[in-house]
Amino acid sequence: MVPGKAKARVFALFFLFLLISCSEGKECTNSPTQLSSHTFRYGLLSSGNDTWKSEMFAHYHEDDHLIPTDDSAWASLLPRKVLREEEEFNWAMEYRKMKKNVQSSSAGSFLKEVSLHNVRLDPSSLYGRAQQTNLEYLLMLDVDNLVWSFRKNAGFATPGTPYGGWEAADVELRGHFVAMMYASTHNETLKEKMSAVVSALSKCQDKIGSGYLSAFPSEFFDRFEAVQPVWAPYYTIHKIMAGLFDQYIFADNAQALKMVTWMADYFYGRVQNVITKYTIERHFRSLNEETGGMNDILYKLYSVTGNSKHLLLAHLFDKPCFLGLLAIQADDISGFHANTHIPIVIGAQMRYELTGDTLYKVIYSFVDCPI
Ligand SMILES: *[C@@H]1O[C@H](CO)[C@@H](O)[C@H](O)[C@H]1NC(C)=O
Ligand SMILES: *[C@@H]1O[C@H](CO)[C@@H](O)[C@H](O)[C@H]1NC(C)=O
Repeated sequence: MVPGKAKARVFALFFLFLLISCSEGKECTNSPTQLSSHTFRYGLLSSGNDTWKSEMFAHYHEDDHLIPTDDSAWASLLPRKVLREEEEFNWAMEYRKMKKNVQSSSAGSFLKEVSLHNVRLDPSSLYGRAQQTNLEYLLMLDVDNLVWSFRKNAGFATPGTPYGGWEAADVELRGHFVAMMYASTHNETLKEKMSAVVSALSKCQDKIGSGYLSAFPSEFFDRFEAVQPVWAPYYTIHKIMAGLFDQYIFADNAQALKMVTWMADYFYGRVQNVITKYTIERHFRSLNEETGGMNDILYKLYSVTGNSKHLLLAHLFDKPCFLGLLAIQADDISGFHANTHIPIVIGAQMRYELTGDTLYKVIYSFVDCPI
């Protein structure tokens, strides 16, 4: 390669990098574009109107973003800047940095939760009838149809037909469902059905072999990590993880705990990769796309496994550009997409309850009070 040319390229890329960091440094959410609404995004993606799509996705500056391959080429051109090999990213250090100034004590006594197994609704009440309707709906769902996209994604044969709506095979958000119904009804027909879903999903996870489990390909996460347009893949992953975790908590399914732990390990590897190859800012910037309650489920998982990796990963989903505003009790937190940000606050509360980290009490109380 001609050295002068290489130098010019390094400079151009570096300039581009500065430009991107300056223009997007303060971005904290994918609103105000209407893309935050799943209904809107569904309409957009299924419209076939490319003009409209490119208008709506313009804020990603598609041409400016480095694709993962370009990005690593850039990183190896600037080895001293980002990737000092002698200073391999130190996770224990990163964790201590995040914990700095945190007074870690037991959070204190909270109201004691009554097990769902011990609560029954009066069947003639409005709530009892609503629960019965929901139970009957869940029982109508067919296992093969429900796991159709998961099997397809794992390369298995796909008996049945995929459901439509959010579960349609061409919807990027496909593959999310959760369950607590069993604990409050002890309906054994439902239990058999849930167990069949968990074991079908387990086979898919084994076949893929990395811990990844989803109804869409892991390539969606390449786009997420490259800050390219993609439809909230962690939002869906959170639902799957929370559903599996609940299968363990409410239905004693030990297999489901193994599965959700393996998923956490997989995503730990992905986030670690983003931070070591690029920067932690890049990881935090990717969180502008909706991530559901990833922090919440990882805190809950940590409460069962006691694995500090799960705690660290949970912290890494505590979206700082949003929780920071709550921590300083900023005057104006309007304009944030509720479905994206309320789950993050719930996760912040879980952090306080588990770790006694008082800053997080300040954070969630600030949201609790005005509402
Ligand atoms: C496509 O979207 C553009 C921009 O929103 C709009 O002006 C145009 O009317 C749309 N075309 C069709 C065929 O709906
Ligand atoms: C589960 O609930 C459905 C709907 O109410 C009912 O038909 C079925 O008999 C129940 N199964 C068991 C094992 O009780």
